[in-house]
Amino acid sequence: MKFYITTPIFYANARLHMGHTYTLVLADILARYHRTIGDQTFFLTGSDEHGEKIARAAQKEGLGPQVFVNGKAELFQELLKELHISNDTFIRTSDQKRHWPGAVKLWRALEASGDIYQGIYHGLYCVGCEAFVTEKELVHGKCVLHDMVPEKIEEENLFFKLSRYSTELKRLIESGELKITPESRGREMLALIGEGLADVSISRLMGGVPWGVPLPSDPSKVMYVWCDALSSYLSALGYGSDDETNVNLYWPADVQILGKDILRFHALLWPALLLSAHLAPPKELLVHGFITSGGAKMSKTLGNVLDPEEFIKEYGIDALRYYLAREVSTTEDGDLTREKFKETYNANLANGLGNLVSRTLKMATQYFNGTITSEPSRVPPLRVDNATLSVIGDLEGVNIPYVIMNDILPRYHALLRAHEIPKAMDVVWELIGYLDGYITSYEPFKLIKTDPEMTERVIWGLVYGLHEIAEMLFPMMPLTAGKIKELITVKEEEGIVTFTTASLSAPLFMRKE
Ligand code: MSP
Repeated sequence: MKFYITTPIFYANARLHMGHTYTLVLADILARYHRTIGDQTFFLTGSDEHGEKIARAAQKEGLGPQVFVNGKAELFQELLKELHISNDTFIRTSDQKRHWPGAVKLWRALEASGDIYQGIYHGLYCVGCEAFVTEKELVHGKCVLHDMVPEKIEEENLFFKLSRYSTELKRLIESGELKITPESRGREMLALIGEGLADVSISRLMGGVPWGVPLPSDPSKVMYVWCDALSSYLSALGYGSDDETNVNLYWPADVQILGKDILRFHALLWPALLLSAHLAPPKELLVHGFITSGGAKMSKTLGNVLDPEEFIKEYGIDALRYYLAREVSTTEDGDLTREKFKETYNANLANGLGNLVSRTLKMATQYFNGTITSEPSRVPPLRVDNATLSVIGDLEGVNIPYVIMNDILPRYHALLRAHEIPKAMDVVWELIGYLDGYITSYEPFKLIKTDPEMTERVIWGLVYGLHEIAEMLFPMMPLTAGKIKELITVKEEEGIVTFTTASLSAPLFMRKE
């Protein structure tokens, strides 16, 4: 199967903060997961480089817009590398060769459908949102998202007949053909459609700085930045170029990840543009909440903007990926504080996973010189308590390989296929809990003195578990998964499995005081 996944393209006006990192990590986890299950995967991210917001930010720094965005796009790509984001390509909207032909092709398709007409826009514009806003959406005269008073503008613009697509949009969302996750977000969009969708201004006169894709029919105007940006999901596949193989292969997108602030553009404008251009809408919009810092939205004024680099430096890449994958709900807002980060890091990475890996490998080396052989069925049973039993039900008496194959893995895969990343992580940690409990109940460090053969089978079970954990963690924590797998080699001969293990030279996760 093919799997096309996108993140929004990020505004190239500032460095990426923790919120953007969150979007990226979620998309990366799903992209990596789909590759591991054999899907032909294409993962897109990029930068949104046009529009007034960017032009002004460049001006403020005394730079031309192109030089300015080049610098930002470079910073973005450095962070992507650092975070081990496995994107297949990076699209930039100022790229005249790769992006503009697609944006122009989409525009022409809208014109050909008779959906573009001339009008005069007079009303309000929030540069923060890069959106036309109405009085009704303001609180105390300000945009709530950007705490900014929108500007009054009156200009001759081209309009897109969004209203024409209301009924079809409603049908797509209601039928789930355009799935919006979580459903509550879909209902919000249906309510907006119910209030009536007005046509939208889709071009801008760019005052002094003509910074955007010029309209093919009127180069004195540029394409409205959201139309330009949304078209990048297609231009990145080669739409409008000489080679549209990837468009045919990958479109429609399987999952488009985005934050709740930009849902309207993705759930209403985007599918309407696609319908007008006779293209299919994306299959699913996965809408996540905001990362808040100390209970508040990150903002320069509050001084609570979280920088991913700071966490990477102190805790490492996978620790940050762990936090974003497990400790933040994919649909609600999630708070990130330094204290909470340290607490979960110590409990679940330094103690939980890290400790289990080092204890197990140490025993394997010390007692068996790193070579452990058994048949899976000869591994002693789990001795679980009542609380665990209520989870695994009638699996009492079964051993680690059995529980992994029949309970842990099926649940893990079902959850990841449903994009339930934190819950899939919980399943991995449930297994870590079983393995910890296994050590406590069999006490291999004592058992070795009386029954080396049984001890070997106990350690075999643990090593088997670790190997599976590494497989399961690969999408979320690729470096840690790689390190664990490097330490464990598997050889199978006629149903008998031999693990050769090496010891850790340093703990996977150092405890933080
Ligand atoms: N350029 C537009 C998207 C165009 S897509 C055709 C844009 N860029 S952005 O840089 O402002 O935001 C990119 C993504 O980061 C969005 O999904 C947004 O929701 C997300 N986040 C920005 N701040 C966030 C948090 N504090 N928390 C979580 N994600 C948030 O919008």
